[in-house]
Amino acid sequence: MAHAARQTNFRLTPVSREELRAIYAITRECFDVPYTVETLADYLNRAGTGFIVARTEGGIVGFAVATATPFPLSLVRRVGEIALIGVLPSHQRQGLGQTLLSASFGHLRGRGMREVRLHVSVDNVGAIALYKRNGMRVAHVVRRYYRNRHDAFRMVGRL
Ligand SMILES: CC(C)(COP(=O)(O)OP(=O)(O)OC[C@H]1O[C@@H](n2cnc3c(N)ncnc32)[C@H](O)[C@@H]1OP(=O)(O)O)[C@@H](O)C(=O)NCCC(=O)NCCS
Repeated sequence: MAHAARQTNFRLTPVSREELRAIYAITRECFDVPYTVETLADYLNRAGTGFIVARTEGGIVGFAVATATPFPLSLVRRVGEIALIGVLPSHQRQGLGQTLLSASFGHLRGRGMREVRLHVSVDNVGAIALYKRNGMRVAHVVRRYYRNRHDAFRMVGRL
């Protein structure tokens, strides 16, 4: 089950378009293949998407993007996706990833989603551990899923 967050001096809020550069900076620190500001803006504009950030007094330290199938397709397809989740290395292992993931699941449930899925690099031990402790399991391997041609696990879980 989910552990309580150990870092308490942060709050979760939606992100504004003006803050996408800060999120972009986090992706540069978190991901081997960073995303573009345009990709982040696309998520922000997409119906059914929850774009959540964790803030401290010093600024944004983590974020998550959860996409729900938009209405009316959601009447027949209730699968949400964790598109992105990242916490600055300086703030990792303090419960923020767990908190962001729980909030993302909450967003998807609120949109009527029943299942969640995501892709994660097969060697991303930390993220895989986080997802497994939240009830997700590996469905299969997707070969050369990433732009750098690394393989991914597709993971699935019930909401
Ligand atoms: C994956 C990520 C979001 C986790 O964020 P985090 O704030 O460090 O996670 P938490 O502190 O909430 O960890 C919760 C639990 O997840 C597991 N976990 C997280 N990171 C782990 C690691 N590096 N190794 C092993 N287990 C880990 C542990 O069970 C941990 O609980 P514990 O600290 O009590 O042992 C963060 O490591 C990150 O941003 N990584 C780079 C970007 C990335 O890989 N994103 C996912 C792409 S699919």
